[in-house]
Amino acid sequence: IPRPPRAGKTHRIMRLEIPRDCERIGSLQIYGLQKVYELDGGTGPHENDSMVERVPGEVLHDRMREMAIVVPVKNERLKLIEGVLVGIPSPCQVIVVSNSPRGPVDRFGLEKEALENFGRFTGKKILVVHQKDPGLAQAFGNAGYEHLLDETGIVRSGKAEGMIVGTLLSKWLGKKYLGFVDSDNYFPGAVQEYVNEYAAGFAMNPGKNTFVRISWHSKPKVMENNLFFAKWGRSSVNSNAMLNRLLTQFSGFETEIVKTGNAGEHALTVDLALKLEYAAGYAVETHHYMNLLEQYGGILETTDPDVLREKVTICQIESRNPHMHESKGDDHVEDMIDASLSVIYHSPICPELLKREIMDNVRARRGEAAPAEVAPVRVYPSLSELNLDEFMAGCDASLNFNAVTVRA
Ligand code: GDD
Ligand code: MG
Repeated sequence: IPRPPRAGKTHRIMRLEIPRDCERIGSLQIYGLQKVYELDGGTGPHENDSMVERVPGEVLHDRMREMAIVVPVKNERLKLIEGVLVGIPSPCQVIVVSNSPRGPVDRFGLEKEALENFGRFTGKKILVVHQKDPGLAQAFGNAGYEHLLDETGIVRSGKAEGMIVGTLLSKWLGKKYLGFVDSDNYFPGAVQEYVNEYAAGFAMNPGKNTFVRISWHSKPKVMENNLFFAKWGRSSVNSNAMLNRLLTQFSGFETEIVKTGNAGEHALTVDLALKLEYAAGYAVETHHYMNLLEQYGGILETTDPDVLREKVTICQIESRNPHMHESKGDDHVEDMIDASLSVIYHSPICPELLKREIMDNVRARRGEAAPAEVAPVRVYPSLSELNLDEFMAGCDASLNFNAVTVRA
């Protein structure tokens, strides 16, 4: 029987726009939004011209092999979580950090079982931990980072708190890059695209302090029996506007460069992640922008000159798949907007004029119920304050890692 011809090695290329705009604030550079022109642009070498960069599949996979994808989970449907894992390319290490209840129904037990099976079928590298794992809490305590622990000595609830756990587990597993993908995404294809874009962002910005943030092209909604593709989520509209107002006040030139104030889908080098502060809950993404400006913007007099010499790059990529996730209600969105605006308001670099604009925004949305001042959000100090060796030793002792490890 004649053998079928061997398929040649394919070098699938991703074609992305080279950013045209850039705002420089101290040693932080924020690039303008980059469009993706082709998710699969055929074969060829890694090259760029003045308009587009073509990043071959093997370059993307090289980055993914050094990347952990952290998936925060709290009470999501198993079908959704599994779909998200289907979308994460296999070279990546998956780290699921769950805060789902253990009783009366052991939802975490169900997640574990589903993910264990999934890992067995696919051979994917999956680490599953519970945010309230006593071993993890002990590792944080031993490492001198009690900030994350509540009065009973376990890790606090919240998405950002889960992200901090994921960040440190990425370091523990020796990864260089770290990406986040929410677990309530309906489209595995969108998740796959985000991870490819993280890898493309790192390939285009090889420095050790790179931050890649995704802005969705659209978010489908049903309006009057028709599908409507909204361009901006409600929380991003508010935080982008205020972050841009802040930059405008520093430079004196109006700017709209920030499109990813609230980007839940983002990735950064582990080096950078270990230097940043994380704000609690849903304020985390906006606070990352603020903390980058505080640490690298050269605005605060106390900034260490060595820190200012480090270049930090924010790269913003516009994804093509529609973003569709679980709808969690209007109150949740309003709270998220307040939390995002709060970290801008309470930052030492926030000018008085912007504080007034933020409160106008809060009053316009909240009416009579608006407080005199937005409530401050808890901010966790930079992970540089944590004793990494102690933390790693704690993980070694209590979390053993294989290709598929599920941790009770
Ligand atoms: N580990 C952990 N612990 N995960 C959590 C927790 C927690 O306490 N709370 C929520 N999550 C998980 C959810 O299961 C979901 O996968 C993800 O975190 C995001 O939570 P959602 O409640 O779905 O947030 P959202 O969709 O309203 O907001 C998302 O998009 C915003 C931008 O529009 C988030 O990613 C926000 O952080 C982001 O600003
Ligand atoms: Mg969601």
